[in-house]
Amino acid sequence: MLTFTTTIKPRIMNQTPSPLLVRKLAIDLSRGFARHWHGGDAFLSMYYNALSMSFPVGEQFFIDSVRAGIALLPDDPQHAELREIVRQFVGQEATHRHLHHLYNTHLAHQGLVNHVQHWTAWRIALCRKYNLHPLHQLAITAAFEHCTAVFADGTLRYQNWFANADPTMQTLWRWHAAEETEHKAVAFDLYQTLGGNYMRRIAWYLYVVVLFSLEATAQTGLNLWRDGSLFKPGSWWSATKLLLGRNGALWRCSGPLLAYLKPGFHPNDQDNRQLAAQWLTDNATSWQSAQAH
Ligand SMILES: [Fe+2]
Ligand SMILES: [Fe+2]
Repeated sequence: MLTFTTTIKPRIMNQTPSPLLVRKLAIDLSRGFARHWHGGDAFLSMYYNALSMSFPVGEQFFIDSVRAGIALLPDDPQHAELREIVRQFVGQEATHRHLHHLYNTHLAHQGLVNHVQHWTAWRIALCRKYNLHPLHQLAITAAFEHCTAVFADGTLRYQNWFANADPTMQTLWRWHAAEETEHKAVAFDLYQTLGGNYMRRIAWYLYVVVLFSLEATAQTGLNLWRDGSLFKPGSWWSATKLLLGRNGALWRCSGPLLAYLKPGFHPNDQDNRQLAAQWLTDNATSWQSAQAH
């Protein structure tokens, strides 16, 4: 039986959640981009390509999960704010899904094959077949959103993560990171409000972290193989630096990823909204509010 918590409790107290603007990005992906768009680095290009390949199907699942969750909320004024922020979340994720679809279309033209979308679609079909309860779907979504938010924080915080990348791709990845930072607590808050418990949250998180790591690695390997750079020493050196280098994933992401295991964890425990706001301000010519049109 579902029990509802009585209030939404954003961890940044005394502040109502900021509205989530749906933004149109002023970039043109129709002309495509270089194969090794990440500063000529084959590994980094293929790694981020692998992430992009997983987004359209994954983000549709997030949208469907929060919609299924919101359908369980009582239609009363007390939950109106959460209902609205979820609607805005859907708008942002739908835009991400669309742009990464365009991105992935160009990857297909480059000869890369998107396997991860089929693995994800197969799992989603299983969820549907066995009628997985919305709370499980929300726990999965909240887990993915946390992983995404950790990498989004790094993307905005550590300039060297994308410093040498094609400028259009820098804009795409940092815009996505800014919006992921803005809405990182939405699925989590909905899960908590619907009475989702700690054990379910953690069980699905462990599953998601393992799955995310394995699938991103496998798709990156397949991309490198198709690219002809899987066995080049430079690819392996770049992978080592991404993992172990200064501002590498192991040093910078392990702590924030482990923080999710704390019983009292909330995504807004780390208040990094300023990072997102700063990028959006500094790059105001790169986007427009979709609502303005
Ligand atoms: Fe997204
Ligand atoms: Fe997201």
